[in-house]
Amino acid sequence: MCEKHNNSENCFTHFDSGLPKVRLNCTVNGESVCTYIDPTMTLLNFLRNELKLFGSKEGCGEGECGACTIIMNGYAINSCIVLALEAMDANIITVEGLNKNGKLSILQREFITYDALQCGFCTPGMLMSARALLDRNPNPNEKEIKEAIAGNFCRCTGYFPIIKAITSAAKLEREEMLNE
Ligand code: FES
Ligand code: FES
Repeated sequence: MCEKHNNSENCFTHFDSGLPKVRLNCTVNGESVCTYIDPTMTLLNFLRNELKLFGSKEGCGEGECGACTIIMNGYAINSCIVLALEAMDANIITVEGLNKNGKLSILQREFITYDALQCGFCTPGMLMSARALLDRNPNPNEKEIKEAIAGNFCRCTGYFPIIKAITSAAKLEREEMLNE
């Protein structure tokens, strides 16, 4: 609760600026989106409040915890500190876009196999940082994995299962590519 929202709403709720709405075109998880939004809305609020994609989480709201990480134009970014307008014409992938034909992706499955999640609050952001890494580097070493998830805080797992899950997913994805 916060004063700005009259103590009546979650302080992460978007506070409408009253400015004229502006048009936003982008692609989210393969779907074209064209809509009008408050120009002060963050990308995270846009994804959660407007598109009802609740996978990306708001932890700190200040670019520190990584819970809101999504992939924009191939890069993992903190969507809480990016304006939705900055996503104009961008290609966005959220955790909802990781599955393949309704089935969990290899990366998601390996997180389960290695118990790389407990409360799960960090998990969507962690998965997106890992996905962005594997997309640009299919065979990362441990140091590269640690660097890729350095901006994602996890209070539960101690990180080692997460690193093992990403390492295993990388190996399985490489094997899958060879068999295709
Ligand atoms: S909620 Fe975006 S970095 Fe913490
Ligand atoms: S699984 Fe709980 S914060 Fe990471």
